Amino acid sequence: MTRHMLSSADLSRTEVLDILATAESMHDLQRREVKKVPTLRGRTVINFFFEDSTRTRSSFEIAGKWMSADTINLSAKGSSTSKGESLRDTAMTIDAMAVDALVIRHNASGACHQVAQWVRCSVINAGDGTHEHPTQALLDAYTLRSRLGDLDGKHVVIVGDLTHSRVFRSNVITLKTLGARVTVVAPPTLMPSGIVGWSATDGFATSWDLDAVLDGEDPVDAVMMLRVQRERMSGGYFPTAREYTVGYGLTRDRLDRLVARNPDVLILHPGPMNRGLEIAAEAADSARSVVLDQVSAGVAVRMAVLYHLLAGNDDAPREPAELETSTTGASAPSAPTQPEGVAR
Ligand code: CP
Repeated sequence: MTRHMLSSADLSRTEVLDILATAESMHDLQRREVKKVPTLRGRTVINFFFEDSTRTRSSFEIAGKWMSADTINLSAKGSSTSKGESLRDTAMTIDAMAVDALVIRHNASGACHQVAQWVRCSVINAGDGTHEHPTQALLDAYTLRSRLGDLDGKHVVIVGDLTHSRVFRSNVITLKTLGARVTVVAPPTLMPSGIVGWSATDGFATSWDLDAVLDGEDPVDAVMMLRVQRERMSGGYFPTAREYTVGYGLTRDRLDRLVARNPDVLILHPGPMNRGLEIAAEAADSARSVVLDQVSAGVAVRMAVLYHLLAGNDDAPREPAELETSTTGASAPSAPTQPEGVAR
């Protein structure tokens, strides 16, 4: 694996499966009373969020802390970005402090790729504009695999504001990497213009008609609803919220029809949810919803990502003994994929 995590497209099937296998071991840690291993002791991870976040920022912070890294959170407000410092100067300033990883969320698509050109530390894309959100796609794959098993041939439907969604872009890549079939559904105004080229690839389809997809011949294994990103909309992409819900919302009626056809269907949403707009409360809180499983998986997957990028990536490799004994008595991961100390 490269030393950065910038795009889902950078990960081969083997690398995705390796990260998810590590995440499974890390998930076990969440069930322990003392959630701490020394794996990243002495490493420093900066979470720099130029855009708001609840799930991604807190899960990266928890992931770093549980692995004994020193984690520091920065946001645009309160940093010298508010005084006009450029992204390049900001990134190089942080890098000069000899940090090991920079986790970045930024409103500009491609910002993380640019930063990776300027710094020596690992860069992790925590969401860049409307481009990508690779760790979200990994945690979604983890959640799906924990319920559905191997995703080869599984049918996942992604619905909503595709135009502004980095979650959709990374998910299509990762799901295809794992062999899933993906149908994306959006109103014509929220269907990205370049998507026609994607439609040519095997196992990928687009539609403007949600009901036709849900009631179609191809049974649905999982539906991922996307947030309507009103903060990124400058014009009217749909006439009214009510009309959006009628055409593209996961309503109680649509949930009932999905469950009638497949009682094991899964409902996902990356959050934050606009309840009553793209997803009804009955669907968000239903027994088929795995929204909170996604949040839980987020910590394990981000631990796994930090582990794969930082553990063992040492100029002066640590002694194995140092990796094996934690301050709490729990032993720690010593090699990628199957960390010894946290394995089931
Ligand atoms: N899914 C997601 O990225 O959520 P946050 O914006 O809360 O991090």
